[in-house]
Amino acid sequence: MTTTITTPATPTPPGDARSGDNLADRHERATLAVARRRSAELESEIARDPGAFRVLTGDRPTGALHLGHLLATLDSRVRLQDAGVEVVLVIADYQVITDRDETGDLPAVVREVVLDYLAAGIDPARTTIFTHSAVPALNQLLLPFLSLVTVGELERNPTVKAEAVDAARRQGRDMSGLLFTYPVHQAADILFCHGDVVPVGADQLPHLEATRTVARRFNQRYAAARPYFREPDALLTPSLTVLGNDGAKMSKSRGNALELRATEDETVRYFRRARTDSERHITYEPETRPDVANLLRIGARFAGTTPAELAESVGAAGAGRLKQVVTEAVVEGLRPLRERRRDLAADAPAVVGDVLARGNAHANAVADRTLADVRELMGTVY
Ligand code: TRP
Repeated sequence: MTTTITTPATPTPPGDARSGDNLADRHERATLAVARRRSAELESEIARDPGAFRVLTGDRPTGALHLGHLLATLDSRVRLQDAGVEVVLVIADYQVITDRDETGDLPAVVREVVLDYLAAGIDPARTTIFTHSAVPALNQLLLPFLSLVTVGELERNPTVKAEAVDAARRQGRDMSGLLFTYPVHQAADILFCHGDVVPVGADQLPHLEATRTVARRFNQRYAAARPYFREPDALLTPSLTVLGNDGAKMSKSRGNALELRATEDETVRYFRRARTDSERHITYEPETRPDVANLLRIGARFAGTTPAELAESVGAAGAGRLKQVVTEAVVEGLRPLRERRRDLAADAPAVVGDVLARGNAHANAVADRTLADVRELMGTVY
């Protein structure tokens, strides 16, 4: 397979003159603007009638979850769940082998992820948590879905390109077929349960577009009279990227993350190393002072205030004081989560086994039904 690997275009904010005449950028900005508008509408539709929506999202189980997950995704999942929206979470274990040969101790990692979910407030009585590999019918949907997209479309998917660059840089390896096709696999994740809302960051919009394409083409080809799949909408997560203490995006693989299961001591040490800047007076200016803004957002999340208010309260006391305030807020704020997690962990194999058994059984029932419908529509029932 000759796959061209190029660096993905960095999204430029609307009105950025530097890239004003680049057609691809302009297209990207227009798409983002449409998605933002649709997201805002969606938020109010959800608020009006939460029971009418099903959210599908999930995580690749490559390690225990960290502060970045909490702020960027877990908080909003819990908020949606508590508002009465049906939430389905996929622990995407097949995605672990998209870019590596060794999976490590997958059952242990999956257990940590489930514990993190529960500790953060995901309620398995209301929210379905399942693992990819335990739901055969979901995975079978991949075959008809793959026939609905072209190699060229997959090659142009910016996330696939970005992941390929990343895999090549980190481990000098070529892209696997599973990585190449994973947007379609994600389409199966979303469509198997007729998920209609997918919370994503702006960088994940191309994935959702792939799912919408699969749904639309399936309907055109096999269900023209009465569309079977709904094209899901992106719910753009408003929170910005959470940075690690080295100033880069927080991620386990960079070693710059604070895990939710970290101890108080580890938390204190983590923030002691956090980057700030040389300006003494603390202000909330995300564009020009990303490191300080990041600390302010993290602190505000736990102190129940806004980043701007927190900045004001620290002001002239400077970065040292800021770190102290943020550390205290995080230590205090994470305490209930950690206590819950510790209690659950004491009984982990049973608790997690239970949650997954229930989640997988439900996901299988739903996936079997969808696959039966799909086979009916495709005329492959014998
Ligand atoms: N790729 C996502 C991640 O790495 C996890 C995921 C798998 C997902 N399938 C999905 C997210 C479907 C949204 C919808 O975090």
